[in-house]
Amino acid sequence: MPKKLTVTTIQQAKGTAPLTMITAYDALFARLFDPVADMILVGDSLNMTFAGKADTLSATIDQMLYHTQAVCSGAPGTFVICDMPFGTYTDKTTALDNAVRVYRETPADAVKIEGGSDKAPIIRHLTSHGIAVCGHIGLLPQAVRGEGGYKIKGKDERSALQLIDDAAAIEEAGAFCLVIEGVKADVAARVTEAVDIPVIGIGAGNAVDGQVLVFSDMLGLYEPFVPKFVKRYMDGAALVKSAVQTYKEEVRERTFPAPEHTY
Ligand code: KIV
Repeated sequence: MPKKLTVTTIQQAKGTAPLTMITAYDALFARLFDPVADMILVGDSLNMTFAGKADTLSATIDQMLYHTQAVCSGAPGTFVICDMPFGTYTDKTTALDNAVRVYRETPADAVKIEGGSDKAPIIRHLTSHGIAVCGHIGLLPQAVRGEGGYKIKGKDERSALQLIDDAAAIEEAGAFCLVIEGVKADVAARVTEAVDIPVIGIGAGNAVDGQVLVFSDMLGLYEPFVPKFVKRYMDGAALVKSAVQTYKEEVRERTFPAPEHTY
């Protein structure tokens, strides 16, 4: 089994082979990703895909702790990041209290925080207390209501320079890596060049240090909305529906259970 990455080996990966990050919300899928993924993100996207809500905003720290415990149980060999949900890092004290809960109540390796230079003092507070922090800039799902939708960033030079400043501030605050979401590819490339920490892209093109996808998107399990940047590596929804339909037919026909499934 490949050796589990650490904040040090993740940072050293910059400029080598791109890193692969995937989300997981439970031990079942985490166990499948454990031998392959470099990092698993317990994303607050679970509020949409797992809990069926319209956005991520109502996810709570207790929910994130529950799912992070499950993912860590399923993926003991993978570096696990717990997303800090909306409202849990509004100031230094709140952020530290909640991040300490992540470390005390789960074996997660790091936390992730959305926001740019405005969040640098909070990131610095966490890193100075021994918490590993992954930043998240560009399209910020937790800002969906405040910004009136999911907004692609880096569309003009001002926005590009802001993203570069944000990445530099997050690096300076001690983050070990950062996610860049929904950003024009050429701008994401400039951000990647501007910092020494790995920049993991989602909807940010190819010239970054790694990629992250929401597992239910890339496995074709989540049907309500498929963002442009998602590649569906399988049609999971069709496979599941077809299997359950076949099961139903066999139950009706009494061909399941067959003798080999019977005591
Ligand atoms: O919550 C999540 O899954 C995320 C990814 C989109 C990066 O933050």
